Amino acid sequence: MVKIGEKIQDADWKKEKHVPVIDCADTVKANETFEVKVAIGKDIAHPNTTEHHIRWIMLYYQPEGEKALYQVGNYEFTAHGESPQGPNTGPIFTNHEVKTSLKIAKSGTLFAVSLCNIHGLWEYSKEVKVN
Ligand code: FE2
Repeated sequence: MVKIGEKIQDADWKKEKHVPVIDCADTVKANETFEVKVAIGKDIAHPNTTEHHIRWIMLYYQPEGEKALYQVGNYEFTAHGESPQGPNTGPIFTNHEVKTSLKIAKSGTLFAVSLCNIHGLWEYSKEVKVN
């Protein structure tokens, strides 16, 4: 059986525009809210057109030493220039970036997965230490 994990791509975000790069503090305080930003195309812009865009980012958290992941959020980007006049003529384009905040009780890893409508699934992860 082919596994979906084999279809999730990753790359150096400095050279690849699809990576959902997670930005947050490396170390946080236990149970204290901190900010997390996930952005596609941190160094190289990804297109945002009716034909080619990012559909969503999902964010997960895995506490150190535990098996299961917890879903943090599912962020959809649903406006890409569609209108009755045709593709890319609409008045709104959702930017493929999310800012959220969360608190964690112990160290772990944040995982981001994103979907480009024509280039598939992409992932990134970042460890967060609790002190
Ligand atoms: Fe793409």
